[in-house]
Amino acid sequence: MEAPLPGLSLLLLLLAVGWGSGMDAAWAPSPGGCELVQRIMDCTGRWLSSIPGNLRGDTEELFLDDNTIRVLGNASLLLYPQLWHLSLARNRLELIEAGAFLSSQGLEVLSLTDNLLFTNYSLTAAALSALPALRTLDLAGNQLREDMVSVLVSNLSSLESLSVARNVIMRLDSSIFTNLTQLLELNLEKNYIFEIDNAFEGLQRLQTLNIAYNYLPCLVGFGLTQLRVLNASNNIIEWFLTLESDDLFELEVLDLSHNRLLFFPVLPRQSKLRSLLLQDNRMSFYQRLPNGTSLANVTVQFLIIDGNSTNITTVRLWEELCHSNLSSLRLLDMSQNQVWGLPDDFLAQMPSLTHLKLNQNCLEAFHLSEEEPLANLTELDLSQNQLVELGVKVGVGDILPNLQLFNLSTNRLQALPPGIFTHTRKITTLDLSRNRVHLCPQPGEAESIPCVDIRGVGTLSHLSLAGCGLQGMGGRPFQGTSLLHLDLSDNRQLLSGDLGWLQDLVLTLQVLSLRNTSLSSTALDFSALSSLERLDLSGNSLAALPGSLGALRLRSLDLRDNCLPALPPDVARAPLGSSLRELYLSGNPYNCCTLGWWDALRQAEGLRVPDGREVTCRHGSRALRPGALPQPVLQSCRWQTADMALLYLVLALPTCLTLLVAFVVVFLMLKEKLLKMVKTRCGVSGSY
Ligand SMILES: *[C@@H]1O[C@H](CO)[C@@H](O)[C@H](O)[C@H]1NC(C)=O
Ligand SMILES: *[C@@H]1O[C@H](CO)[C@@H](O)[C@H](O)[C@H]1NC(C)=O
Ligand SMILES: *[C@@H]1O[C@H](CO)[C@@H](O)[C@H](O)[C@H]1NC(C)=O
Ligand SMILES: *[C@@H]1O[C@H](CO)[C@@H](O)[C@H](O)[C@H]1NC(C)=O
Ligand SMILES: *[C@@H]1O[C@H](CO)[C@@H](O)[C@H](O)[C@H]1NC(C)=O
Ligand SMILES: *[C@@H]1O[C@H](CO)[C@@H](O)[C@H](O)[C@H]1NC(C)=O
Ligand SMILES: *[C@@H]1O[C@H](CO)[C@@H](O)[C@H](O)[C@H]1NC(C)=O
Ligand SMILES: *[C@@H]1O[C@H](CO)[C@@H](O)[C@H](O)[C@H]1NC(C)=O
Ligand SMILES: *[C@@H]1O[C@H](CO)[C@@H](O)[C@H](O)[C@H]1NC(C)=O
Ligand SMILES: *[C@@H]1O[C@H](CO)[C@@H](O)[C@H](O)[C@H]1NC(C)=O
Ligand SMILES: *[C@@H]1O[C@H](CO)[C@@H](O)[C@H](O)[C@H]1NC(C)=O
Ligand SMILES: *[C@@H]1O[C@H](CO)[C@@H](O)[C@H](O)[C@H]1NC(C)=O
Repeated sequence: MEAPLPGLSLLLLLLAVGWGSGMDAAWAPSPGGCELVQRIMDCTGRWLSSIPGNLRGDTEELFLDDNTIRVLGNASLLLYPQLWHLSLARNRLELIEAGAFLSSQGLEVLSLTDNLLFTNYSLTAAALSALPALRTLDLAGNQLREDMVSVLVSNLSSLESLSVARNVIMRLDSSIFTNLTQLLELNLEKNYIFEIDNAFEGLQRLQTLNIAYNYLPCLVGFGLTQLRVLNASNNIIEWFLTLESDDLFELEVLDLSHNRLLFFPVLPRQSKLRSLLLQDNRMSFYQRLPNGTSLANVTVQFLIIDGNSTNITTVRLWEELCHSNLSSLRLLDMSQNQVWGLPDDFLAQMPSLTHLKLNQNCLEAFHLSEEEPLANLTELDLSQNQLVELGVKVGVGDILPNLQLFNLSTNRLQALPPGIFTHTRKITTLDLSRNRVHLCPQPGEAESIPCVDIRGVGTLSHLSLAGCGLQGMGGRPFQGTSLLHLDLSDNRQLLSGDLGWLQDLVLTLQVLSLRNTSLSSTALDFSALSSLERLDLSGNSLAALPGSLGALRLRSLDLRDNCLPALPPDVARAPLGSSLRELYLSGNPYNCCTLGWWDALRQAEGLRVPDGREVTCRHGSRALRPGALPQPVLQSCRWQTADMALLYLVLALPTCLTLLVAFVVVFLMLKEKLLKMVKTRCGVSGSY
């Protein structure tokens, strides 16, 4: 008798959920628990084990994802002849009966991802081949081998997009995709492919090919001239070699990132390449060795074994590279490689470059000259190298005239060449963090110390000098700039005097980070920074809030990891409190017994403490959450405050008593004398 009850309540719950979403104007509840909007029927996640038979006959799109359907029978779709989009992702589909789609001749998009179609694939193949209009088919995650895929797609000549990602394909040859003459897009991601043998030659219209996350050791003889996007990232490719040919390749995007490339890829001579992604490989250039030996004429021989025949291809690496016309390249990502120097004129071949990423290599020097003006470059990332020198031949010509972001973080630079920013008329962001730079002018007579001069760079708005070992700032290093963001964190000897050196930024600076700067003085005067909106003071040793903050109209303040025992009780009030939207507070030794400020903050409107869950206060040796102080602690706090009065009383009482007694004794002694005196007087008088 007990059993049906949970079922009933579950049903009620479901109904409630159904009605809940049914309130939404566009969605109307429909029989079978599905939802209908216009001609789209959504039956996602309804524990259905078959296709409901009571949906609208004119349904055009049917979503049955996340159900438990095992078989799509001959009659399943008879009632819905107008279907053009059917999705059965994440069911337990093992079989689609041969006649299942006979009534759905208009079906164009079919998703069967994450099912078990390997089980009865030949019957399913027969069903699919009855779909004359099918354009998009997704068979990802069905444990299919290459022979199964071959059968499943053999008659789908209308197909334009096919995904067989996340299956168990190991080898591709010419028999697999022969009939897919209309195919534009093919996704083979996340299989176990280690060999490709002429598999794509018949695909005359193929534009996008994704073979990422496989086990390809090389791509040799690449000749798909019509391909626009090739994604071969996350394989184990050591070589990429294009077929020697002067044909124009349509290739626009080539992703070879996360492989094991040893050399710069041998690209098509003529192509429309816009993005070349080579991140995380083992590339270097061997035109010259680090000791100066020229290897310009060195060749590499490729042994190509094809069936029984063996061919040796000799490639002059450097010349091949030179022969590629890279005039349309916009994005070149060579980050995370082993590049220690670029060949001469390398960048001169890429006049259209807008983004160049060379971060995480082992560059020791980088030279810019007028011959390689990189006129359209907007972003240059040289961070995390070994740069000790940035060479610029400054002359009449423009160098980096369109550069906006220059990242030099984490190098070994001590200075930048004077005049480097003369032509960079659009630069907004400069990241010099984690170098050993000084800003010009150097205080005192130390004019000879090399330094970075950003004075007068009017377009600069974001500057990071974090971890630069800056010390004893003075003078006016920011003269003529109008910085909005300034990061000075991790400079432990930065703040020795006042903030006078920020005088040129008082009107513009909005974001300032002074994290980890050994700040302990509460006397530091921030009041002049009238535009400041975000201030990071975390990781310092502040024992009280600097008084000058009270006058600022900050929106965000970070006080984490300081030595604050409490905040001022009026912190939530104007003007600071009324403008603050975000206050970071954790990592301070707050006193659990003086949390009045915390309660005031919690009541402050519009103010968030994003790290509120990590805020703790101290009581004795215990760390407690201020919102949930246990009763004994509250009591002990009350005692502590009450104690004080009592203590004073107890301390004062004996003293008072002693004084009183002493006074009384003295008084009594005096009184006796007095009495005596009176008596003698009286006695004397008595003798009248
Ligand atoms: C389904 O239809 C196909 C083709 O019309 C037929 O060969 C097959 O026997 C049918 N299957 C069932 C279970 O009726
Ligand atoms: C589908 O495959 C399973 C397992 O291979 C098999 O037992 C079953 O008979 C097949 N069903 C049909 C209709 O062929
Ligand atoms: C493909 O079509 C041919 C001829 O129409 C037919 O003989 C063959 O069985 C079909 N293949 C599949 C897998 O249905
Ligand atoms: C290609 O399609 C034709 C007719 O549609 C069919 O006869 C042939 O078997 C298919 N080829 C392959 C390799 O499946
Ligand atoms: C290549 O595929 C990987 C994996 O799906 C993806 O992360 C990456 O963004 C793709 N590359 C391009 C250029 O789309
Ligand atoms: C430079 O290094 C290469 C390889 O380490 C060596 O063969 C060559 O002799 C060296 N050249 C000079 C000039 O030291
Ligand atoms: C490379 O070869 C060319 C002729 O093929 C020759 O003129 C040049 O000197 C060679 N360079 C080096 C560094 O050997
Ligand atoms: C390879 O050579 C053997 C005999 O040496 C021959 O029987 C076989 O057909 C050849 N295979 C190919 C793919 O040429
Ligand atoms: C081997 O090279 C010859 C001549 O260069 C070429 O005709 C032949 O197609 C190549 N064979 C292979 C398997 O690449
Ligand atoms: C490179 O290609 C562009 C067009 O994409 C063409 O204008 C230019 O002349 C080519 N350069 C060379 C050296 O072939
Ligand atoms: C730089 O960009 C502009 C506008 O986007 C374009 O007209 C110009 O041709 C580009 N210059 C080069 C060298 O590609
Ligand atoms: C510069 O590069 C470093 C590390 O490569 C990165 O953490 C930082 O966010 C970059 N700076 C900018 C402004 O993009």
